[in-house]
This record gives sequence, structure tokens and C-alpha cells, in this order.
Amino acid sequence: MATRKNNTLKLSFETGWKYDPAPESKSSAKIDPRYELFINGKFEKPLSKKYFNTINPATEEKLSEVADANVADVNKAVKAARNAYDKVWKKMPPKERAKYIYRIARMIQERAREFSVIETLDGGKPIRESRDVDIPLVANHFFYYAGWADKLEYAFPNRTASPLGVAGQIIPWNFPLLMAAWKIAPALATGNTVVLKPAETTPLTALKLAEIIQEADLPPGVVNIITGAGATGAAIVNHPDINKIAFTGSTDVGKLIQRAVAGTNKKVTLELGGKAANIIFDDAPIDQAVEGIINGIFFNQGHVCCAGSRLFVQESVYKEVIRKLKDRLETLIVGDPMDKNTDVGAINSKQQLSNIHKYLKIGQQEGAEMYQSSCPLPSKGFFCRPTLFTGVSQSHRISQEEIFGPVLAIQSFRTDDEVIEKANNTPFGLSAGVWTDKGSKIFNLTTKMRAGVIWANTYNKFDPTSPFGGYKESGYGREGGLHGLSAYVNLT
Ligand code: NAI
Ligand code: MG
Repeated sequence: MATRKNNTLKLSFETGWKYDPAPESKSSAKIDPRYELFINGKFEKPLSKKYFNTINPATEEKLSEVADANVADVNKAVKAARNAYDKVWKKMPPKERAKYIYRIARMIQERAREFSVIETLDGGKPIRESRDVDIPLVANHFFYYAGWADKLEYAFPNRTASPLGVAGQIIPWNFPLLMAAWKIAPALATGNTVVLKPAETTPLTALKLAEIIQEADLPPGVVNIITGAGATGAAIVNHPDINKIAFTGSTDVGKLIQRAVAGTNKKVTLELGGKAANIIFDDAPIDQAVEGIINGIFFNQGHVCCAGSRLFVQESVYKEVIRKLKDRLETLIVGDPMDKNTDVGAINSKQQLSNIHKYLKIGQQEGAEMYQSSCPLPSKGFFCRPTLFTGVSQSHRISQEEIFGPVLAIQSFRTDDEVIEKANNTPFGLSAGVWTDKGSKIFNLTTKMRAGVIWANTYNKFDPTSPFGGYKESGYGREGGLHGLSAYVNLT
């Protein structure tokens, strides 16, 4: 499949032939001009009386405005969640809780098209990804955790699992609805109630999820969805009546949260940044590896905490791999995220784009060689050319710091020990990829590399049953699978 696509694209590149535009229709996306806060089962005007805009990063046009929750709004949401926890949700028989979660999963499936379109409009990721990756995984997460709700005694044999209480959940903009699902589904299945805050640049699918939650008749207050920026997030973190904080985002904010909760009884899971190493050995199937490397860093514009942003290539195949990567880079279609042919969509925000540009400069100043695809970029919106850096060394900032954009830092290596040492030499440890024909090499590397997830001969594959999370500055705690359940229970 990958090879066929590769050949077709190569042909188009060599002959100058182009795909016709194939834009997805916006007609399924019902976006209101304004959204209020979803508290206690109702959409309520913010006590702050303030709103902010969310835009489409591919066109810079305003899509809607959403409420900016202040401390009083956060108090109101936490109060609703506490009340629902004490009076309804923790007392409800688990099999009844499961029915609501299944209902949410089915409703997401029914409205998958609408959710995909809104995810792409609000965040800039290609429609192909929202449609084929994000939204199906969202439904799968709800289905998966619905299944566990009445089977917790099998999840934790000989132990009693009880809910923690009210969970405060703060999520980023790179997988907006998927991160909401990762957080809400296990919390509900284990009997907790929720106050969730989506990122300020991508609030719309979480608010559409609030509509589904309302239609699914979930008891009021079990899930509250409030919008706002960092100050709203901080108010959730510092609220004294919250029992658990689940955060996905930058390492800087993760550290702030850790400091804020130190000395309190709050449980915390943090899923932070990454600087994943993808490693190609000379016995790897090179074409598949190149396709996997491209997917690993350019998928979702590199806005992926587990993006394969560093590449290590064994010396004997270095030239071949670089040549193939450059050829493939040239065939990537960058542009309108609503077009079904687009491979690389819009960068999520102006701020993120300038952060990426900053690193492109740093890379060149540090002496690395930059290679970019020659594709034209749209005149409006935030776009970045897929970029490779060669001649990178371990001390370069582009090989140490998270860029969170379509930028790949490439180095060569000779031996297994050398590449393991290089791959482990970052402050992060979220994920990695190994490309080789030898099972023994895979086992050797996976046992010695300090990364939460290691993919072998594939990359960026997700499944609700598999735990995900990091080592070192990539955070702690696991989401997904049984591990994801244990983050929301006390075991006695
Ligand atoms: P961020 O960490 O500021 O934002 C993530 C979420 O945290 C958002 O909902 C935001 O409103 C909230 N937040 C911000 N300040 C907060 C505070 N003091 N207390 C509680 N919540 C707070 O990330 P940002 O600024 O959008 O991106 C900066 C960099 O972070 C990116 O360039 C990337 O390197 C990294 N990042 C990593 C992500 C991951 O999935 N691991 C996701 C997003 C960003
Ligand atoms: Mg937006």
C-alpha cells in the first residue's frame, strides 16, 4: 500500500502531474457563532463575561468565540462535578455507568464526519488524519473503557478499586478530541467526575462533545467542559476540591503543575514533551523505513509529542536513505487541510509557527545543513515547509529540544551501542522507533532505550488497549489500556 502510493506520487513529481483539489465539504460542520461554558449539564454564560476567538489556522478566519472561564467559573464547574460525584455517579452501578459511555461512543461514530471537519477547521490538521485517525480512535477509546466499567474486579484482581473523586483535566491542541477522550473515558468508567479544559486554539470539538454528552443524558455535572487559556488551567490545578490532575502539554507547564500540587493530596499524571529517535539499521527494509520516518515526523505537521523528530541512520545506508527522504519530501502535498490529498496541513497557531521558525534559524546558526521541500505555500494561514537537517551533532539544540513542527534532525551511527547512547541522550523519553530485519536487535534496543513506547518497523500506531506515557522530562503516569484505568482509582 505504502509502496504503491509512493510510486504514484513519485510519478507525479517526475512528470509535473498534479492532483486536482478534492476539498471536503464543510456542510456537516455546524459551528455556532458563540459557545458558553458547559457546566452541570447546561451551556452557561461565563461569570467572567469574557470571550475569545478561535480561528482556522489555515485561513486565519474567525470560526467562533468561546467563553473565557475565570476562577469563579472554575469554582462553579468543580462544585457541579463534586455534587454529581457525591449524589449520583459514584453510587451508580458500574453497568449503568457503562451504558452512558457506550452511548457517547456510538453518538461520536454517528457524527464522525462533523467532528472530523470541525477538528480540521479549528486545528489545521489534514482532514484525512482527523477522519481516519483521530475521530475513529476517539470512538474506540470510549468503547474500550465502557467495556471496563463493570469489570474492574478483573482489571485489578483481589483488590478493590474506588474512584478518586473530581478529576481536573487539561489538554493540548495537537489531538484535541482524542486527548479529551483519553482523559474523560477512563475517568468515567472508574466512577470519577470531570472538569475538562481544552486548549485555547482548539476548543470546538470538546464543546461539540459537550453537546453529545447533553444529548446522551449523562447526569448533570458528571462532565463539565470549560474553556480558557493558561489562567483557567492554573485555576483548575490550584482548586482545593480537585482530587486528580491529568495534564498533557509542554514540559514547562508540567513543571509548574508539579510545583503547584506538591504537598497536596492531588494525584497527578503528566504527559509532556518528547524528542523521539527513529533508528534505521542497514538491514532494514529501506523503502518502508523511509515511509515510516516521513509519517513519524510530518504526520500532523510534527505536532506530535511522540513525533520521530530525530533520525539515526547506519552509516552504510546513510546516502541512500537521505536521497530517498529528499525525494519523498518533495512529493508531500502541503496546504489546505480540508483537501483530502493534503499530507501536511496548517501549523496550529502563529505563535507555534514562529517557534518553529526560531529553530530553523538556530539549526542553521549551529552549522547544520537545512533541506526543505520546494512546494509552494498558501499565501494565507500558518504553513511550514517540511524540513530536514543533516550534519547535526548531539549538542545541537535542534537535536535536544522539542520543536513540535515538521523538522527532522538527522545523524549517522556505526554500532548498536553508539546509537543507543545517542538516542538516550536527551532530557526526554517518550517514544522511539527501530527499523531492522533482526528481532534480536529490536529486543536489544527496546530493553536499553529509555522511552515509554518503542515501535518496531512501524511508527505512530495507537490503540486504546496499549498504555502510553514517558520517562524523564516526558512526564509520568500512563494513559490507555489497564494502566490508564489505574490512574483514576485508589486500590485497597
Ligand atoms: P501548553 O503546555 O502551554 O498548553 C497545553 C495546555 O495547558 C493548554 O490547555 C493550556 O491552556 C494549558 N496551560 C497553559 N498554561 C497553564 C498553566 N500555567 N496551568 C495549567 N494549564 C496551563 O503548550 P503550548 O504553549 O500550547 O505549546 C508550547 C510547546 O509545548 C509546544 O511547542 C510543544 O513543544 C509543547 N507541547 C507538547 C504537547 C504534548 O502533547 N506533549 C502538546 C502541546 C504543546
Ligand atoms: Mg482554532
